[in-house]
Amino acid sequence: MSALDDLVEVDSEHVMQTYGRLPVAFTRGQGTLLWDSDGGRYLDFLSGLAVTSLGHAHPAVAEALADQARTLLHVSNLYYNEHQPRLAARLDSLLGGGGRCFFANSGAEANEGAIKLARRYGQSRSGAERYHVVSAYGSFHGRTLATLAATGQPQKQETFQPLPEGFRQVAYADVDALEAAVDERVAAVLMEAVQGEGGVVPAPPEYLREVRRICDEREALLILDEVQTGLGRTGRWFGFEHSGIRPDVVTMAKALGNGVPIGAMWARHEVAGALRPGDHATTFGGQPLAARAALAVLDVMEAENVPLRAERAGARLATALVALPRVASVRGLGLLLAAELAPGIEAAAVAGHCLAEGLIVNAVTPRALRFAPSLLVSDDEIDEAVAILAGVLEATPLTDPGEVTP
Ligand SMILES: Cc1ncc(COP(=O)(O)O)c(C=O)c1O
Repeated sequence: MSALDDLVEVDSEHVMQTYGRLPVAFTRGQGTLLWDSDGGRYLDFLSGLAVTSLGHAHPAVAEALADQARTLLHVSNLYYNEHQPRLAARLDSLLGGGGRCFFANSGAEANEGAIKLARRYGQSRSGAERYHVVSAYGSFHGRTLATLAATGQPQKQETFQPLPEGFRQVAYADVDALEAAVDERVAAVLMEAVQGEGGVVPAPPEYLREVRRICDEREALLILDEVQTGLGRTGRWFGFEHSGIRPDVVTMAKALGNGVPIGAMWARHEVAGALRPGDHATTFGGQPLAARAALAVLDVMEAENVPLRAERAGARLATALVALPRVASVRGLGLLLAAELAPGIEAAAVAGHCLAEGLIVNAVTPRALRFAPSLLVSDDEIDEAVAILAGVLEATPLTDPGEVTP
């Protein structure tokens, strides 16, 4: 029995089967590369799911983690730790200043905190009635009950009814729909600058400016979910910067720890002040290990100017992808891209063949592949990945050859 077969058997017996896993176990990574349990080499163009933005085993992050592990892993939030306030200050400055952070352990938790903050802030201003959250169809905000209720994908919600009350969805990028939905009961509008899980769909900059206007007019908070888009991935530090708006609340996670679980919620001062001692907490939030890792991540991100690198590498990748036969179009920002395949080609089958050829991408919709490599990816790695995909696309059988454009 191979090492992989053994893992699959133990997993199927002892791990809750909530994921449809592919038959690979990764054991080691370095930069954009991963190796599996049989020694096979892969180009990781997904980075977890947009998590390892500095690549695998980044030496500065590894060193900070090892040093912190030898020094102090955890103290409770009943006390100060030397890294959490410094991390909050760094994030605040990336966000333009004038705000405060709360630390959590994941994207869903960061959003959960933002929803609680919006309710508390709404309450403090207009009594108990202002607690509704409006989000967009196609969005993804997490799997806790409240963030699932905010997630605009009814098929994910059905099995878990009844969900918490006070959540509504409107069509994405439809200003009139939002105008109609935001009334005096709405505490916040929750949006992604690019819908990541929803298919890598960027919000038109004009739409986000209209969302800001509507929130201002109706006195609702604007929460930007930057869990997937934040920290350089789209070619700016935050995805909302493409539209020039300033949100009231910003959530982030994935890239912040480069693989170490950490989430953060930032809010401008006045809003942040709505949460008082005892209102919200989490045992591990902002603990020394995670905060130190995030500080090391930000050091490298700033030194490498990752937004600029993502913009340049993203342009190279997008240009190469759109030139491939059987790629109908490419969308996204920076290094969060999707290639829409020509009719007759299933994205999941292509992703499966890419994996077999040593390239990791995923089917973000039935017809589109997602690309989210390390922001430090090299030109050679991009060229190698595109060459693998080109070969796979050429060899992939069509479900309906008659429809395919050359
Ligand atoms: C935009 C967005 N928000 C929230 C989440 C949930 O984050 P987590 O899986 O860390 O809870 C995700 C995860 O993919 C996401 O893409």
